[in-house]
Amino acid sequence: MHNHLAFDIIIEGGTVIDGSKAPRFMADVGIREGKIGAIGDLSACDAAQRINAHGKVVAPGFIDSHTHDDQAVLSKPDMTFKISQGVTTVVTGNCGISIAPLRPDSDLPSPLNLLEDTQNPRFSTFKDYLDALRQSPSAVNVAAMVGHSTLRVMTMSSLERAADPAEIIAMSRLLDEALAAGAIGISTGTYYPPAAHAPTQEIIDVCQPLKGSGALYVTHMRDEADNTLTSLEETFFIGRELNSPVVISHHKLMRPQNFGKSAITLPIIQKAMKCQCISLDCYPYNASSTMLHTDPNRLQGRILISSSEPHPEQAGRDLDDIAAEWAIDKVDAARRLQPASAIYFGMDEADVQNILAFDETMIGSDGIPSGEKPHPRLWGTFPRVLGHYSRDLKLFPLETAVWKMTGLTARNFNLPQRGTLVIGNYADIVIFDPLTVRDAADYENSTAPAKGIEVVIVNGEVSWLHGTHLGTRAGQVITRAMNG
Ligand code: ZN
Ligand code: CU
Repeated sequence: MHNHLAFDIIIEGGTVIDGSKAPRFMADVGIREGKIGAIGDLSACDAAQRINAHGKVVAPGFIDSHTHDDQAVLSKPDMTFKISQGVTTVVTGNCGISIAPLRPDSDLPSPLNLLEDTQNPRFSTFKDYLDALRQSPSAVNVAAMVGHSTLRVMTMSSLERAADPAEIIAMSRLLDEALAAGAIGISTGTYYPPAAHAPTQEIIDVCQPLKGSGALYVTHMRDEADNTLTSLEETFFIGRELNSPVVISHHKLMRPQNFGKSAITLPIIQKAMKCQCISLDCYPYNASSTMLHTDPNRLQGRILISSSEPHPEQAGRDLDDIAAEWAIDKVDAARRLQPASAIYFGMDEADVQNILAFDETMIGSDGIPSGEKPHPRLWGTFPRVLGHYSRDLKLFPLETAVWKMTGLTARNFNLPQRGTLVIGNYADIVIFDPLTVRDAADYENSTAPAKGIEVVIVNGEVSWLHGTHLGTRAGQVITRAMNG
């Protein structure tokens, strides 16, 4: 007799937090053909596999709204640093940098070179990149953006100036191609040298293909320190000119003289949200991480080296100590370490908490998956929000914490059938222990896997089981939804 099982998997007896911010409830969750088939009492139903979730929370897989995993999803396809946190979808191409489209030969400026894996060939079109991902899927779903700095590197003979009309047309055309291939938007990083000379109008001109496409304008703003308010105005203006949804990346206020200013920026953002589509994300740490700067202005405060190509042995050390040992000043030391990345202790914890607790703030790791001593956010972001900020500090209820990393993010990035546990949605699911979930990575042990993430399911396939990666690579490429 043929035994037609009702479900492939039934998750039994868990507490469902469905990603919509609704209160938790007890229910079984049935998975069939990669989708959520039923939520309720399924004790009478057959299943090929049953997973016991008594005492555990069953939630949508986390969506990392801000990543630099463009290359990692190809070269580290198990994506253990994300799967082990319960992340099932990553948004790539942030801060103006994406690994496609790029020329095969050119030298990449910082911070583009942080994404580079010299073992891997480059992709001259965005479509080639997405096709490569479809051909060899990673463990997580990918929603990819194209970077404005990447387009500049692709089209401009010099990055030290504004683009000329022909270069603007060329960039616009490449954006158009990326959108046609399925990019969910474009990101800018005018804070960084490759795009610092791009005026507001260049961005508006290049981004014309966004109009009416539903694609996002995502930005690492020009300034997150003394001129944050001006940068917010520029960001809102660009969004209005393009009539596009805007994402303010990793909102923060750098340097002591700006501490406390989230009390000013958040009401401004909230007010602008009433008139145009704006969202924002944040990582749960008061230190940032990016390329190692050589501009003395950007070398203030404590700086920890995370990676250095010529001096990998210096990873994990303070720039001041390295400079002292080499008997040179820290700007020269920073030059000697290039290309390199670093951690900057430049934020106020009270601002971080204020921004995290702001109702509309999504959680994004901004993790940089390279180097010996990455910022701990690469391995710890999501469990840190669940454990440290929600459970221990009670910054917001667990339902809100989950929403900030699932339903809210799927809504803002327009990722259909993701982010909530609803019948018919993709079965991206995490089961975690609400009592023990926590981040374990810190600035010393920066790659320690989080605790309390018990099971991770991606598109209906179990990928992580009680601390073990099963080698499953069920991630899909999520392309832009046309109903935007
Ligand atoms: Zn950034
Ligand atoms: Cu970033």
